Amino acid sequence: MWVYIEKISEYVNQEITIKGWLYNIRSSGKLMFPELRDGTGIIQGVVSKKEVSEKVWDDFSKLTQESSIIVQGTVSKHPKKEDVFELQIKGLEIVSIAEPYPITPKEHGVDFLADRRHLWIRSQKQSAILRVRNEIIQSIREYFYNNGFILFDAPIFTPNACEGTSTLFSTDYFDLGKAYLSQSGQLYAEAGALALGKVYTLGPTFRAEYSMTRRHITEFWMMEPEMAYYDINDNMDLIEDFLEYVVQRVIKNKKKELDILERDITKLEKVKKPFPRISYDEAVEILRAKDIPLIKRTDNVEEQIRPFPWGEDFGAPHEEAIVENFDKPVLVHHWPAEAKAFYMKRDPENPKLALGVDVLAPEGFGEIIGGSQREDNLEILTKSIESHGLPMSEFEWYLDLRKYGSVPHSGFGLGIERMVTWICNLEHIRESIPFVRRPNRIRP
Ligand code: 4AD
Ligand code: MG
Repeated sequence: MWVYIEKISEYVNQEITIKGWLYNIRSSGKLMFPELRDGTGIIQGVVSKKEVSEKVWDDFSKLTQESSIIVQGTVSKHPKKEDVFELQIKGLEIVSIAEPYPITPKEHGVDFLADRRHLWIRSQKQSAILRVRNEIIQSIREYFYNNGFILFDAPIFTPNACEGTSTLFSTDYFDLGKAYLSQSGQLYAEAGALALGKVYTLGPTFRAEYSMTRRHITEFWMMEPEMAYYDINDNMDLIEDFLEYVVQRVIKNKKKELDILERDITKLEKVKKPFPRISYDEAVEILRAKDIPLIKRTDNVEEQIRPFPWGEDFGAPHEEAIVENFDKPVLVHHWPAEAKAFYMKRDPENPKLALGVDVLAPEGFGEIIGGSQREDNLEILTKSIESHGLPMSEFEWYLDLRKYGSVPHSGFGLGIERMVTWICNLEHIRESIPFVRRPNRIRP
């Protein structure tokens, strides 16, 4: 019977078949210890010269790393270790002998591995990350489905910018001129919310930004809920409830993977409502108290500006300093309108502020969510489109949403790869997606 390794505990003392690959092999005289992987896990096999035919013994000696094999054997419990199983091997069928495999158990440089990403994903750590990613996305879908949100897929070819014109990828679009790869599905999600009440998008988004940081990629997946009749506080309540659900479910269902990744789960267990909520002004006070300057680079000259000036957006050192004294995600709200996108609603009590909210992950992982209440006033929104230098003609349809039954509404965007990086405690975002796209990488 063909069994996947993740289900092996249900087959103790039974004879089963595993279809997979040789991960590693050790031998000591009349015993061989092949490690088999099948995509769901790894199990150690035991081949005893006196228990198997000569052919099986010889075939095992021929195997190279990553050779594909089908193996028969009996499942046994490890004599000492809890929850560890072994396969007492009887039969072997070689499907394909692998050529000398480039990735060996020794340490390799990151570029070497990144160039071989199509093979690197077979390693234990990388496949654990991809399993956690799968669990995160599944939890997101379930959370929104169970809470009455409609999945509303936004287009990827778009005629206009959403998050600033300086980070657009463009392509020719037949006789219709230029098309841009979507930076965000939000504007479409707003139309969806006014049609369906509560919606969310989940799809690839693009930023043509020459950013070589540990947090930026040019193609990333974003999940964006949008809700009619939600103000900024409703939005923040949803963010808290949603994040708690996803994090707690992932640590419950993906213990084994997080263990492989040596993730300190006690840190994630603390991600329970309520989260700290601080205003942008309070965040600036924290930066000033810690004497964290703004760093400006012009023509390779670096300038440190102290105290941190009001009105500027935060970079990685600021985000790290702000969350340092908290052990949960931190919601930073009421941002300087100048630093934020055109669609954010102005604070009716202070027009210099926008009703935006960013979520900074704990442990210094930086911004994972950006959101806001949306400007629902036709006149202010029109002025804002103008002052951001955006082409009014492309926003006619969007302005219709303020002409025909405008309502207060809000939403946010979660970067899936930032979330995976945080949950898996990764040094660099490049390992959070099967095939990363960065300014200097489009292959494989
Ligand atoms: O803050 P951003 O730019 O917000 C928006 O796009 C809004 N339209 C969202 C909304 O309100 N519906 O991006 C949202 C999130 C960020 O917090 C971050 O997690 C992720 O998307 N993100 C990136 N992730 C990886 N690489 C990049 N270059 C990213 N840019 C944004
Ligand atoms: Mg943002």
